[in-house]
Amino acid sequence: MKIIKTIDYDHMSEAAAALICDVISEKPDAVLGLATGSTPMGLYKKLIEWNEEGTVDFEKVRTVNLDEYVGLSKDNSNSYYHVMHEFLFDHININYDNTHLPDGMNPNPEEECERYKNLIESLGGVDVQLLGVGHNGHIGFNEPSDSFDSEVHLEDLSLETLNANKRFFESIDDVPKRAFTMGIQTIMRAKKIILVASGEDKAKIMEEIIEGPVTPKVPASILKTHPDCTIIADSDALKLIKNL
Ligand code: GLP
Repeated sequence: MKIIKTIDYDHMSEAAAALICDVISEKPDAVLGLATGSTPMGLYKKLIEWNEEGTVDFEKVRTVNLDEYVGLSKDNSNSYYHVMHEFLFDHININYDNTHLPDGMNPNPEEECERYKNLIESLGGVDVQLLGVGHNGHIGFNEPSDSFDSEVHLEDLSLETLNANKRFFESIDDVPKRAFTMGIQTIMRAKKIILVASGEDKAKIMEEIIEGPVTPKVPASILKTHPDCTIIADSDALKLIKNL
């Protein structure tokens, strides 16, 4: 696992956006695995800027998002569909038909998981998967558990995650309790993985991920076993890691 330490959030965003652009320039119809949460928003801003300047072209790019809340429709501003449009898709030259997320409104969860898994396979898999990280080490919405075996599935969100994500909602009661997410195995099949982290509040979990054992109790710790994973984090998030 490669670790890139940047001086601040802006430099983290720029470095991560540059790596994604490298993948697109090598493969113009690359499949990008995208993430939500607040950490990737700065890098999406960079991608928008570079697209406007003509440095990166999304015309043929395909995207699959990691996860989606159950029960939020596309026009709900907290649905990840809405977030992706608001902060990226509506500002770049991407073909909306090439952008994909799980359908949080599908009343048949098993069918939805199967559909999304097959869709990712039909695109030929993910070329570069972008990840944020939860304070408990979750990636996508894969909460700490006893195994790394999951594929696309419905996850019950932990109280910690509901609390962390309530800032986007009126109250914790409005945060959906379940979400569709790519599983750990789905994520690990990506050819390349980039995890971004910023801020002191992520320092403890980054220490566990980087220096602790590989355990499903800290889902992101499995990234150490991926052949091409890069962590890009600012100095606050990496402040507990010596020798960097
Ligand atoms: C949510 C998302 C994750 C994200 C995490 C951290 O739970 N499902 O994909 O990594 O939040 O978010 P933030 O970047 O806002 O700290």
